[in-house]
Amino acid sequence: MSNGEINMPVQFHIQPAKRLGRLPSQFFAKLTQQAARRIAMGHDVINLGQGNPDLPTPSHIVSALQEAIEDPSTHRYSPFRGIPELREAICAHYAREYGVDLDPEQEVAILFGGKAGLVEISQCLLEPGDIALVPDPGYPDYWSGIALAGAQMEVMPLLEDHQFLPDFYEIPKDVRRAAKLMFLNYPNNPTGATANEEFFQSAVAFAKESELVIAHDFAYGAIGFLDRPISFLQIAGAKDVGVEFYTLSKSYNMAGWRVGFVLGNARVISMINELQDHLFVSLFPAVQRAAIVALNGDQSCVKQLVQTYAKRQQALLAPLDDMGYSVKQSKGSFFVWMKTPQGISSEQFSTFLLEHYDVVVAPGIGFGARGEGYVRIALLETEQRLREAGSRIARALNELKAL
Ligand SMILES: Cc1ncc(COP(=O)(O)O)c(C=O)c1O
Repeated sequence: MSNGEINMPVQFHIQPAKRLGRLPSQFFAKLTQQAARRIAMGHDVINLGQGNPDLPTPSHIVSALQEAIEDPSTHRYSPFRGIPELREAICAHYAREYGVDLDPEQEVAILFGGKAGLVEISQCLLEPGDIALVPDPGYPDYWSGIALAGAQMEVMPLLEDHQFLPDFYEIPKDVRRAAKLMFLNYPNNPTGATANEEFFQSAVAFAKESELVIAHDFAYGAIGFLDRPISFLQIAGAKDVGVEFYTLSKSYNMAGWRVGFVLGNARVISMINELQDHLFVSLFPAVQRAAIVALNGDQSCVKQLVQTYAKRQQALLAPLDDMGYSVKQSKGSFFVWMKTPQGISSEQFSTFLLEHYDVVVAPGIGFGARGEGYVRIALLETEQRLREAGSRIARALNELKAL
């Protein structure tokens, strides 16, 4: 310092880019904090508010990872678009499970979990100001991708008297014409509804007419309680208009592993692959090898898991039923979508359940305006705990009725 001045650190304000400001806020953070506070106070809280599978990954998949990790060739970078054997295993799985034929080179993109892909597709297809259609209530990550792209979101109401399926022809004509992308999700989070072939056929016809891309989120594809959920790609013409997102998170209790994929329309797949070439070098190769074992190995673990969730649903609903509260059974996913008592909002009911009965459920309003009047209950505790939760909720309903 020749002139003897002290060099002070420059203070300046670091300004986030506008796109960050557009991201929706994390609605459920408040409830999670309240629950944590009660647990810290020593309360016996039953947390059914989140969607994080509680059971372990089947042991044959864990062993496959252990074996793969011992092989130093898995410690290197993966090929950019994943190992070819995984893409082939994905196609073999879809051919076997759904009778859907896919090209592993052109019609598959490997994802860091479904969540990443569901945000990426909006970056690939939407310009600022474009319109994307989302289900209301629906999974909030669709909103995040649309917001990051600077696009507009228009909602498609999912109403109980329409089996929680959108009515495409209720969408105003100008919105229909302007929309470029539509998100669908069956089995559905949060409503537990499923869709049949006829519904998907009408979705394909609507997409062709309106020239929009369908992104079908099949995250809960393995979990159906009445009929086996069908893949959107089973429908004639589906590949012409859309793609389907799948994840190992729910089918194999692999939420922490971050393995997902998207399948279908080759043009959309190539866009997602291109974007991902700039973001990632695909998944850890050892995880990819274990994913092959999950998809091509014995599928009895999946059947068992569905039976477990079915029994858990009965455990939750039986005490409610016994006390005269018949709650509609979920057809798929691991969520029960329960109506709140007349005149009580979803947030009021969730707060009441937490503060008076130590049960955490997710208020429906967090999934969109049409989620008001419902709460989402996750079947992610043991049968015993769910029976206890059911009986606490029934007592809460009695108390509210008496007020
Ligand atoms: C409807 C829906 N789609 C996608 C996902 C994403 O799952 P993952 O990112 O673990 O693959 C979830 C997870 O909760 C979900 O509920």
